[in-house]
Amino acid sequence: MEKVFNFGNVSFGEMFVNREAEKKRIILNIKSGISTTLVSPRRWGKSSLVKQIAKENTDSNLKFCFLDLFSVKDEQDFYRQYAEIIFKSTATKIEDVATNISKYAKSLIPSFGFGNTIDADFELKFRLDDVKNSPEYILNLPEKIAIDKNIKIVICMDEFQNIADFSLGLAFQKKLRAHWQHHQHVVYVLYGSKLSMLSDMFHKSKMPFYKFGDTLFLTKIEKHHLVAYIIRRFETTEKRISASLAEKIVDKMECHPHYVQHYAQLVWYNTQTETQESDIIAALEDLVQSYSPMFQQLFESLSRTQVNYLKAIADGQKDQLTSKEIMALQYLE
Ligand SMILES: Nc1ncnc2c1ncn2[C@@H]1O[C@H](COP(=O)(O)OP(=O)(O)O)[C@@H](O)[C@H]1O
Ligand SMILES: [Mg+2]
Repeated sequence: MEKVFNFGNVSFGEMFVNREAEKKRIILNIKSGISTTLVSPRRWGKSSLVKQIAKENTDSNLKFCFLDLFSVKDEQDFYRQYAEIIFKSTATKIEDVATNISKYAKSLIPSFGFGNTIDADFELKFRLDDVKNSPEYILNLPEKIAIDKNIKIVICMDEFQNIADFSLGLAFQKKLRAHWQHHQHVVYVLYGSKLSMLSDMFHKSKMPFYKFGDTLFLTKIEKHHLVAYIIRRFETTEKRISASLAEKIVDKMECHPHYVQHYAQLVWYNTQTETQESDIIAALEDLVQSYSPMFQQLFESLSRTQVNYLKAIADGQKDQLTSKEIMALQYLE
């Protein structure tokens, strides 16, 4: 059975909704050589947006590289993975990657393997010991390759705030900024969910990444786009949903992209051929049930103040909270 809705991993292609304004701004930044910092709470669509921009790119001189800092352990590991993604993304064939490595980084000994994701047909690994000795060289590698090949490299880094947690994280940030600011042919898209950490990194005047580029706070997706999407996805199958019921799904999930997709999938399961009000109600029960353990765990980890805020919101006292407090709640997860 084909997937009707998508949640739990990035959405792109058929499963991607709107974000036209954000796409335009990020692409204009890229083309103007301006780096972008993209911030939103988790599951609002940062990774999907950047992935979609890369998928839609038709300019063959623009090469996108992706690094998820969630999986990077420390500074040395960063250099290793950074070098790997740069070599991988600037060539399509293994032979070309091998040629580039011997041309640009003779001291690195690559090992190749079969890729285990849809996007990757091969894997490239370097040894930690090899990259350790040449961090400066590795940081400037993309600029060097971009100039030589007459291309522009877009380096996209997910959960970027994680570098602040490395030991000597501040010194590392200084090092990165010192090199990156001289890059004319490489542009960075840095994104993450930890608002306070990212704000510290990019908006405090003493921090190395102060005023590094353009910051974009991702909002939720507008209602009418999500409603049209739900109707469209149902129509790709033998089932139908009315606009008013699709609207109910979106309203109930307050336009949250992840939950809209999940709820819509459950409504689709419950629907025979035409969605009924009762299908919507039953699906909501299923949805709440599937998240209960997670919410319970989350709730138990909250401070008394945070619990009180949540209770106030549940009681409909949203107006009494400052916008700063509401913002903080959204970034809780
Ligand atoms: N533009 C979009 N169109 C459709 N679904 C989206 C979109 N953005 C996010 N989603 C949904 O939200 C989920 C989380 O998106 P993701 O890009 O992983 O968010 P983040 O990186 O901000 O945590 C995705 O699995 C998808 O279901
Ligand atoms: Mg993400």
